[in-house]
Amino acid sequence: MGDSERYDYETLLVEFDDGVCLLTLNRPEKRNAMNPTLGEEITDALERLRNEDRCRVLVITGAGESFCAGMDLKEFFIELQDKPAEYDRAHRVAVEWRGRTLRLFPKPTIAMVNGHCFGGAFTIVEGCDLAVAAEDAKMGLSEINFKMFPGGSVGKSMGNLLRPRDYMLYSLTGRPMTGQIAADIGLVNYAIPRDKLRDDVMALAREIADKDPSALQATREIYRNSMDMEWDVAMDYASSLQSQHTARQANAFREEGIGDFLDKKYKPGLGGHENAKK
Ligand code: COA
Repeated sequence: MGDSERYDYETLLVEFDDGVCLLTLNRPEKRNAMNPTLGEEITDALERLRNEDRCRVLVITGAGESFCAGMDLKEFFIELQDKPAEYDRAHRVAVEWRGRTLRLFPKPTIAMVNGHCFGGAFTIVEGCDLAVAAEDAKMGLSEINFKMFPGGSVGKSMGNLLRPRDYMLYSLTGRPMTGQIAADIGLVNYAIPRDKLRDDVMALAREIADKDPSALQATREIYRNSMDMEWDVAMDYASSLQSQHTARQANAFREEGIGDFLDKKYKPGLGGHENAKK
């Protein structure tokens, strides 16, 4: 991995490898808690990575033993308590980058949950398309433990992922769960031993990075955007998206995707077109 010169941040590391961007929350001494600086910096990074050719898939992880300990409780709630304008800005930035910028990012995203993941960090997991955890990662909706509730975008976004009983159990008790339990309840896709996590996630990211970028973008968009639409509106949207997609990829799905299948070059049911070229 290398070439992070152009992405020089205090709280983040940005690296590229073979079409995959690894974005690391880099405050290990604070268990990668999200302070206002991190909010500003990751907003900037995501804005640039949208159009970065070296980033076909984005992986988010944490430096050291933690994924992310949630909001920086000191910098947000103590140091800004008498600074309403600064708090308002930091709060809006924090909610926006996870709730919209990340969720609507035009490329596939994977949360690599390498350790502690609490409170506000759950919205990073929810904002990413996929999530893989270390089996022994400690994760939790811990707000109730410090006399708070899952505020900001946490309560709302958990409704997209968790079954009601699981949300209630973990948010009312604040009980930590392991990465394995997070997988069992569908909060992450699967959990694996910590020492295999990075290789597994990078292989997953590369597998996806090999697919057609426009098809990947549309695959995310049709799912995310039509969720809240009425049926007829969603069908209309799907037609428009198909036109956009085929224009964006210059009709590659007909010419190469279907064309090469009909020419007996590969079988899409058994693997991607990209593998047929190798
Ligand atoms: N906000 C601000 N600082 C935090 C933090 C957070 N969410 N989580 C950890 N830190 C800081 C600690 O205050 C400590 O700082 P210090 O060295 O200046 O004293 C440092 O990170 C290390 O934390 P520590 O508790 O000693 O590490 P640990 O490995 O023993 O425990 C946690 C890690 C994550 C279990 C524990 O820090 C914790 O419970 N944090 C709060 C998690 C939480 O409820 N987050 C939800 C916020 S929405």
